[in-house]
Amino acid sequence: MNHFGPGNHGSSATEMPPLVRTPAPPQRPVDEQPAEPIPFPRREEPAPAAAAEPEVVLGPTGRPWPDLPEPRPIGIHGNARVIAMCNQKGGVGKTTTTINLGASLAEYGRKVLLVDFDPQGSLSVGLGMNPHEIQLSVYNLLMERDVRLEDVIVSTDVPGVDLLPSNIDLSAAEVQLVHEVAREQSLARVLQDARNEYDVILIDCQPSLGLLTVNALTAADGVIVPLECEYFALRGVALLKGTIDKVRERLNPRLQVDGVLGTMFDGRTLHAREVMQRLVEAWGDDVFHTVIRRTVKFSDSTVAGEPITSYASDSPGAEAYRTLAKEVLVRCLDA
Ligand SMILES: Nc1ncnc2c1ncn2[C@@H]1O[C@H](COP(=O)(O)OP(=O)(O)OP(=O)(O)O)[C@@H](O)[C@H]1O
Ligand SMILES: [Mg+2]
Repeated sequence: MNHFGPGNHGSSATEMPPLVRTPAPPQRPVDEQPAEPIPFPRREEPAPAAAAEPEVVLGPTGRPWPDLPEPRPIGIHGNARVIAMCNQKGGVGKTTTTINLGASLAEYGRKVLLVDFDPQGSLSVGLGMNPHEIQLSVYNLLMERDVRLEDVIVSTDVPGVDLLPSNIDLSAAEVQLVHEVAREQSLARVLQDARNEYDVILIDCQPSLGLLTVNALTAADGVIVPLECEYFALRGVALLKGTIDKVRERLNPRLQVDGVLGTMFDGRTLHAREVMQRLVEAWGDDVFHTVIRRTVKFSDSTVAGEPITSYASDSPGAEAYRTLAKEVLVRCLDA
């Protein structure tokens, strides 16, 4: 359900340009094609230095790869940026990105709070918690005035990462909050004190645009939109953009799009590259240069209840999230 009522059902991504296939290069008749590969001419003499131009390296999004500096350590923590991980489509990598971006930022010395704001509780499970053993959750923090932030925050096995856990109880909050005063600001209110303690707070949203997600967007300074690199993933993006715009206009003028992240990318397929091209056409420089490739290591690490950065520390998936962390730091945390 869209918290802002009916109207747009998300099936028409109006600002998405139509998919235009690049025409195939003209084929030479078979008898004109060279039978042997043409040998590459070897140049014995080095090219003159003046003619050598710096080679432009294109990243997986088709744009020049930027220079991402090594993050510098920080001495004082606090003044956190709150970032909501948001897409109403399910299974696009919101929770995976919350865990692994959080863990990577912590590797770079940032103090991180992860907020599980999905009644499915996947973030809590993905960090090794048993949902039935959670005594106090985000639900209690939202609904009970005498519950304090420090009663609910738990530390995790990942150094530098704390968690506000959730379980199915949170689904009741969506109904109960409707009757509250300033119902859209409930999460912002309870996170206020955490801003002084942490450098970054990542909120893992549920796959819907209901009241919980609007709460997350109202509490946030920025939003990251993970998008599966698959054609159907582009449907509904207009609705999400519309919701972000409405929250900015009506509830939270400081809300920015911190970035759009292509996930489950398979660079070997033309399809994935076309979807990436359309993402860049629609969102421009909001699209992160980093993309997350498809690998089963992510499911394996979820089962193990830890981030990929510790489960398979040297894997390309772990490296991708470290690179994303660098990009997030350059774009919106250290800026
Ligand atoms: N890059 C990836 N490659 C392969 N599998 C992935 C990748 N990212 C996530 N997954 C897997 O896809 C599934 C869905 O991912 P995840 O739970 O992060 O999505 P979500 O958007 O949080 O889903 P939901 O909307 O249900 O909360 C999980 O099993 C996860 O392990
Ligand atoms: Mg999730």
